[in-house]
Amino acid sequence: MSSLPHTLSERLQAVAGVDPELRAATKPQFGHFQSNVALRLAKAEGRPPREVAQRLVEQADLSDLCETPEIAGPGFINLRLRTEVLAAAASEVRADPRHGVEPQPTQTVVIDYSAPNVAKQMHVGHLRSTIIGDCLARVLRALGHTVIAQNHIGDWGRQFGMLVEQILDEQLDVAALDLAGAEELYRRANDHFKADETFADRARRRVVLLQSGDEDTLAIWRQLIDISLAGFHEAYARLGVLLTDADLAGESTYNDDLPRVVAELEASGAAVVDDGALVVFVEGFNAPMIVRKRDGGFGYSATDLAAVRRRVGELGADRILYVVGSEQTFHFNQVFAVARKAGFLPERVQAEHVGYGMVLGTDGKRLRTRDGGTMKLADLLDAAEERAARPIALAAVKYADLSNSLVKDYVFDLDRMVQTVGDTGPYLQYAHARLCQLLRRAEAEQAQVGEAVTVLDEPAEQTLALLLTRFGETVAEVGQTLQPHRLCAYLYELAGALSVFYEQCPVLRSEGEVRASRLALCVTVRDVLAAGLDLLGIEAPDRM
Ligand code: ARG
Repeated sequence: MSSLPHTLSERLQAVAGVDPELRAATKPQFGHFQSNVALRLAKAEGRPPREVAQRLVEQADLSDLCETPEIAGPGFINLRLRTEVLAAAASEVRADPRHGVEPQPTQTVVIDYSAPNVAKQMHVGHLRSTIIGDCLARVLRALGHTVIAQNHIGDWGRQFGMLVEQILDEQLDVAALDLAGAEELYRRANDHFKADETFADRARRRVVLLQSGDEDTLAIWRQLIDISLAGFHEAYARLGVLLTDADLAGESTYNDDLPRVVAELEASGAAVVDDGALVVFVEGFNAPMIVRKRDGGFGYSATDLAAVRRRVGELGADRILYVVGSEQTFHFNQVFAVARKAGFLPERVQAEHVGYGMVLGTDGKRLRTRDGGTMKLADLLDAAEERAARPIALAAVKYADLSNSLVKDYVFDLDRMVQTVGDTGPYLQYAHARLCQLLRRAEAEQAQVGEAVTVLDEPAEQTLALLLTRFGETVAEVGQTLQPHRLCAYLYELAGALSVFYEQCPVLRSEGEVRASRLALCVTVRDVLAAGLDLLGIEAPDRM
């Protein structure tokens, strides 16, 4: 099914020679779509715009799809779909198990998201990454792409030297720790590291032991990984996201690739030795990327280069997304530029950093706990669940995360987010649950539910039908632009149009074909709301 606005656009373009820039009408009296193409053409042609508009609509011959087009004001073209055309399009959405979401030419898309750090609890930044990445994975899968999730956990690096030494000093039973306990250990180790030079030296030597594969060191390291993973799993289960162990690809998994990365960087001439370190200069960056430090250690950048190389070479990525906070924009731009220069990232593979802003408290500052500490994911979910049942609390948090433009910081105002009125997740859940209730009543009354939408006399019915036909293109847009807020805005508009419909069009109190058609419309809106919420990773309960 090619979308109606698309077909109308093509026909107008064929006679106008330029994109008619068809837009949804801003008011019902302007019909369903409007275009100002005649005004633009009139200038070039030196003819009155109304005359140009008249010529265009005559030549385009839209009579099979639209009522007689209206030329308004200085020369706007207003199009109103014939109701039977609109009804047929809405009925197609009703019959289609995918509700108009069309599979795209298949790509393999690697999504790097969540990526918490071992021996530390997940914080709000990881929460955002997890929620946004999960939504993008769902949307891209629905569009038919092969999605490979990669959870690039921070499980390698210098901090493990001090963690292992602290464990040995305290003769600690690591297996008995939970993630919160591991985090306390982290703090003690860090303090110790700063205060005691000989401890710091031992920690540095311990890193070398770890990275060269010393069995005793690795055994303690593995225990730390295990308790951390248990904590992460708990968080994922609580959030209802799709990540599993199969998606884990932590920094440590690239360790064996690093010598080859270095060899290839040197062979391609991309890397040079600078003051003992191996670095890559790329144009447009004020600092080179340090691949290997003077002491021989590899850092975050080296691992990310190895990750790009593997995602392209082994996973077969056509597109790689990194859902990571905007504060790492420089890092990713540099990784992409270096990877292109080194030949790890061919032109045909797209790499995109999906950055996002900070979560702020109601005071406008970075969200913190009451005592000023960093906000843990668990604290935050606890607070949400104090205000609402779990599915609703989760909807509130996820929707707040997805409904703003990602790069913007947003204020975490739980009292607002859990409301069932306004632009919130619970509002959409409520719209869905209320429809379910109406349909339950229809069933109890043995009302006939139309297989198709057949009557669209009321403007409120038309608005709803028109919106239904836009679900597929909205999902496709999110897949392209990676902006979940467009899907949120669409669902919010749909739920709003539904309340207007309730006010103006009695459903159960109507009769005959009108009732059957209105019930068909209701079923379709319910299904689209549920499908849309599912793509956001939000549950759609039948009752609330
Ligand atoms: N662990 C990192 C952090 O907490 C995020 C990793 C993001 N992914 C990546 N490929 N660098 O900041």
